[in-house]
Amino acid sequence: MKYLSSLKNKNLSGKTCLLRVDFNIQDGDLKNSLRIKSVLPTIKFLTERGARVVILSHRGRPNKHQKNFSLKSTAQLLSKILKRKIIFINDFNFAAIKKKINNSPAGSVFLLENLRFLPGEEKNSKALAKKLVSLGDFYVNDAFSVSHRANASVAAITKFIPSYAGFLMEKEIKNLSKAMKKPKRPLVIILGGAKISDKIGLIKSFLKRADYFLIGGGMANTFIASWGIPVGDSLYGKRENLFGLKRQFLHAESLEFSAEDGKRMKFESELPEELKRVIDELENYK
Ligand code: 3PG
Repeated sequence: MKYLSSLKNKNLSGKTCLLRVDFNIQDGDLKNSLRIKSVLPTIKFLTERGARVVILSHRGRPNKHQKNFSLKSTAQLLSKILKRKIIFINDFNFAAIKKKINNSPAGSVFLLENLRFLPGEEKNSKALAKKLVSLGDFYVNDAFSVSHRANASVAAITKFIPSYAGFLMEKEIKNLSKAMKKPKRPLVIILGGAKISDKIGLIKSFLKRADYFLIGGGMANTFIASWGIPVGDSLYGKRENLFGLKRQFLHAESLEFSAEDGKRMKFESELPEELKRVIDELENYK
């Protein structure tokens, strides 16, 4: 995939960009969302060059058209941040949407309703990808955090339209490549939250490269549970193979978890000095 930055000297006036972002954000977290702030450079780059931008995203894991998973509030916030009108499209009448886009001035920004309201999205449907493609001239993926999903607006779509990686995607790829190829030591991986199985895969792939893992939240609980320690009602990977997990990580020399009440739980020996230094740096990081 080419980078969007390669279009720096291009006039995009008259073109429509389909921009896939990850606006999978809970209402309460919306205001300070890094996910919105991080894609602003890409949106500005496109609009400043005269392109119309049709933003595509999913939100949550709805079963059908569920109001509480709508992207409407995100459109309102984005409009406030960008100080420009965002045209929110709340139905999927593609012919009508196309007309609306064609009649809009250069630099207009649209946000389509949650793509997961469409059954084809998570099935990586070619038919849906083609419908999306009918709305634009080129596609930009700035949704690194969802690019592991074979969804129509992430994977299938790239088969039918010239595709680029946006600025956020470029940054993520470059930083990750640094960590993969020539990391500054010690390489410390910090992990937490839910979506446990995805992250266990990530731990496995970094096991030989990383010096330390700092694990919190539901991830930490999963490891704790794998050692047979009760975690009560706390979130943990109930569907994980806990026995397998324990066996795989038996050789881990020292593990430190941050428990839900904020207390640290330390397993095994004293933490090495270099890790203490990294933790201090993180604690003082503003
Ligand atoms: C995320 O927040 O991790 C991404 O948006 C992917 O969401 P998903 O796990 O529901 O596919």
